[in-house]
Amino acid sequence: MTQQPRIPGSPGNTGDSGPQMEEPTTPAGPLPPAPDQSGPATVSPTGQETGTPQEKMAQGGEFLTTAHGARLKDSDHSLRAGPRGPALLQDHHFREKISHFDHERIPERVVHARGAGAHGVFRGYGTASRISRAGVFAQDKETEVFVRFSTVVGSRGSTDLARDTRGFATKFYTDEGTWDLVGNNIPVFFIQDAIKFPDVVHAVKPHPDREIPQAQSAHDTFWDFVSLHTEAQHHTMWNMADRGIPRSYRMMEGFGIHTFRLIAEDGSTVLVKFHWKPKLGVHSVTWEEAQLISGADPDFHRRDLADAIEAGAFPEWELGVQVFEDTEDQMFAGIDLLDPTKIVPEELVPVEPVGLMTLTKNTSNYFAETEQVAFNPNNLVPGIDVTNDPLLQGRLFSYLDTQITRLGGPNWNQLPINRPHADVNDMLRDGMHQTAVHAGVAPYRPNSLDGGNPFETPDGDRPFIDHPAPVAASVKERALPATFDDHFSQARLFFHSLSEVEKEHTAQAYTFELGKCYEQAVRERQLRALANIDPALCQAVADGLGMPAPKPSLDVPEVTPSPALSQVGRTWPLDGRQVGILVGPKVSTGEVAAAVAAVDRAGMVPLVVAPSGGEAATRLLGKDLMAQRTYLTARSIEFDAVLVASDTPPAPDAANGLDSKVGVPAGAGTVDPRVELLLGEVWRQAKAIGAFGAGEEVLRAAGYLDGAGVVSGSGGDDAVQQLLTLMPAHRVWERFPTTGRLAAT
Ligand code: HEM
Repeated sequence: MTQQPRIPGSPGNTGDSGPQMEEPTTPAGPLPPAPDQSGPATVSPTGQETGTPQEKMAQGGEFLTTAHGARLKDSDHSLRAGPRGPALLQDHHFREKISHFDHERIPERVVHARGAGAHGVFRGYGTASRISRAGVFAQDKETEVFVRFSTVVGSRGSTDLARDTRGFATKFYTDEGTWDLVGNNIPVFFIQDAIKFPDVVHAVKPHPDREIPQAQSAHDTFWDFVSLHTEAQHHTMWNMADRGIPRSYRMMEGFGIHTFRLIAEDGSTVLVKFHWKPKLGVHSVTWEEAQLISGADPDFHRRDLADAIEAGAFPEWELGVQVFEDTEDQMFAGIDLLDPTKIVPEELVPVEPVGLMTLTKNTSNYFAETEQVAFNPNNLVPGIDVTNDPLLQGRLFSYLDTQITRLGGPNWNQLPINRPHADVNDMLRDGMHQTAVHAGVAPYRPNSLDGGNPFETPDGDRPFIDHPAPVAASVKERALPATFDDHFSQARLFFHSLSEVEKEHTAQAYTFELGKCYEQAVRERQLRALANIDPALCQAVADGLGMPAPKPSLDVPEVTPSPALSQVGRTWPLDGRQVGILVGPKVSTGEVAAAVAAVDRAGMVPLVVAPSGGEAATRLLGKDLMAQRTYLTARSIEFDAVLVASDTPPAPDAANGLDSKVGVPAGAGTVDPRVELLLGEVWRQAKAIGAFGAGEEVLRAAGYLDGAGVVSGSGGDDAVQQLLTLMPAHRVWERFPTTGRLAAT
């Protein structure tokens, strides 16, 4: 059989010709990572550049060895007292191999266990240098970064498309020490005081008795908590809106959430909120897609990020700040800047861009990089400081603490991915997994035996200084300020900023989630909270649940919507979007080639879907075109638009229930039932649909030809050009049904 060229996204780095059929027997050293991959920089445990080539961080030599480097002859048979006898305790290789394997897993993160990471670079615009002395913001200064995106609730192996908040954590390896901006894709948090974090997490995690449901908030304990702690209502509203099910990590905003303090060269200070703005815009999947993805491709976001980077469609975000005067009361327009359940609308204080982050490299080893990376909001650099936000204050303890269990001791900063790219001379000594070999006898200060080393940093040498912010005279108490008491008006502001379609999605999400709760009291209590946010929303959800809608118990305030919070109404670049091109037996390969080329030119990914794969596909498409999917393997969720390029009569495996997707025995229809299913899903998901030639007949037979967002072209290129007029809006929004019940809110 002839060898196929390497397919993008295929595992390993086996060169252009792919793996050979026979077991390789000629000794050769390990292959380097694929070109799109990289490990962490080669710095010593104490932050100095070592100059070691990246590949020397991995294992070397052409022969299999023990952990101490002795070459091995046989790793397939254990040492036994004869071929039929018992295994021998003496088998050092067996014991080492199995024992190491037995301890391969480390505890997953308490929260944010499932994630995907990538390396990149941040370039400062210089615009923040007037307000912060941090070198990372200097004009054209480039700083290496590692980013980890995550879901919050699910276990490490859970689905990417759970309805959930997403973590957006960035490690900036600056010359002045590591700065971690540990944020989320939602600008507010569930709780105002970190002491409640174990409670909210216990409530949203699976029930402790049966450990179900996995990676979901649609259960009683979560809604019990958020309806009892109504400060959580604002964040919950974002989760129920489309923001809770992003289309891609590349299409999410990120937020530092808390207000931070920046300190300028002259010592002056401002308060800021950090925002990451994706160049591709903010987009979501539909709830139907999210559910299909969770079954058909639970690695959807992880794959999307890695594929985009591998293809050179590097994801980009602008970092921006909203800047506030550092006043004594730390308030802005009636909003307490220390309350992490509140935003300041961008229409009131615009987000000023301060730099650009580009993700350029995939990881070369998931465990060493994405699993072992440890973010920590304590990691600050001169010019960036914290405020007294009671949630942030608690985080300053928690992250440092949790790593000691997860990463097995206090030296996790020495793991390659966590090593600073600045000199480290910290006098911390010993401990589990110490890998630095410290010299000297006097890890204390002052000392005279090591020449006084290390010295405290004088002002001129840029020390980190905890900003001496005044603390008002007060009493010691367990209380929050009264300015934290309004739990509803910003949830209302968010809801009122959405388009009608987004509001409908949100109402449906509440109805779905509360519909999964068993307890009437929990549902009713949540409806009471919704009544105080928006009576029409409350009514819609109550109708869906078949319950009476309660009246508001508080005055429902007037709010001014913030259009920046809606995802509808603008157009965006299409980099890395996927277009399915459906072909059948009478396809014109020239026109398909033209469509593929046009999709490519637009920076998108063409995926040809043929009746079957292998040599049959080659016979159909010729040697210059490839079928990436078949009617059996394709599913609507991986396409942002679909183009029908020919007839699509039932393929042989549509008959006799061979493909369970067919559902019913394939009749004598003219369209393969899998194609019909695909078009039906793509239609409901409000994605652009196009056709040319006999493809138009397929759309007519399926009943979509004259629908909104359906285009016909004279050929492959023309049809793609027409799709391009629809796709930048992300969806054909008018295709989503609305009821009018939320239009006026
Ligand atoms: C604004 C509020 C918060 C945000 C934006 C946030 C964000 C994050 C993110 C992004 C991660 C994942 C980091 C990674 O990818 O490795 C994370 C992990 C974690 N967070 Fe938070 N979090 C918040 C509040 C809290 C609070 C209040 C606590 C505890 C008091 C907490 C404790 C933790 C812990 C223990 C982990 C696991 C860390 C690890 O094992 O590496 N978080 N958080």
